[in-house]
Amino acid sequence: MSQTKRRRVIAGNWKMFKTQAETRAFFSTFVPLVSASRHCSIVVAPPFTAIPAAVAAAKNTNIAISAQNLHWEKEGAFTGEISTGMLVEAGCRYVIIGHSERRQFFGDTEETVAKKTKAALAAGLTPVVCVGEHLSHRESGQTHKICKAQFDGGPGLLTPDEFSRVLIAYEPVWAIGTGRTATPEMAAEVHKFLRQLAAEKFSAKLAEALRILYGGSVKPDNIKGLMAQEELDGALVGGASLDAKSFASIVNFTS
Ligand code: PGA
Repeated sequence: MSQTKRRRVIAGNWKMFKTQAETRAFFSTFVPLVSASRHCSIVVAPPFTAIPAAVAAAKNTNIAISAQNLHWEKEGAFTGEISTGMLVEAGCRYVIIGHSERRQFFGDTEETVAKKTKAALAAGLTPVVCVGEHLSHRESGQTHKICKAQFDGGPGLLTPDEFSRVLIAYEPVWAIGTGRTATPEMAAEVHKFLRQLAAEKFSAKLAEALRILYGGSVKPDNIKGLMAQEELDGALVGGASLDAKSFASIVNFTS
């Protein structure tokens, strides 16, 4: 399988960090550092209030803006939620769905992940659907079982056309924010498994085209090793995406 067929994506997930002013400051440093980067798609996911500032700063650049969550209804009495239409109008092109922090702290389930993914696709947003096991799962040999349940209950429920427009992020929960990265080989093994699930559920062609990002303590000093694995089609970066220089050096891992 040739990696050149799949365009890589390096995405930054800012979580609940950065005001609008901090967002503008980030982009003024970041944009010139990555403006010549052609080898991957670059995505930044700020918190909702900083999205307009990020969209303005990324205008006419090679950087796309993502949201970190959405609600599947178009509008309604859902205090604190946000719709696809609002995100599209604000200039988002991607949305992260089912991040482990949302599953763990905010009640996201397979069912809501599936609803959110379908809603995002219907609105023309590219969903980045997160899956990944906890440490106890890995230690008890349940990594594949958990990833399969999250795949089957989420992206696995899509139509083939919908599935062709989805990105998956494999994020082992024990590697998120812990400084403990999965080895490139460990990550590649799970990516391969997910790709095999996609082939069984959909087709070999769709599985081969599917982009699977790795997430969990990706840093400037480990990105090269991770990207040396053909199975890894990019990265979803948390902590190290908050600093413009560090995120730029991750984006520019080829140089
Ligand atoms: P981290 O976060 O890079 O800080 O581990 C990754 C993520 O949660 O997407």
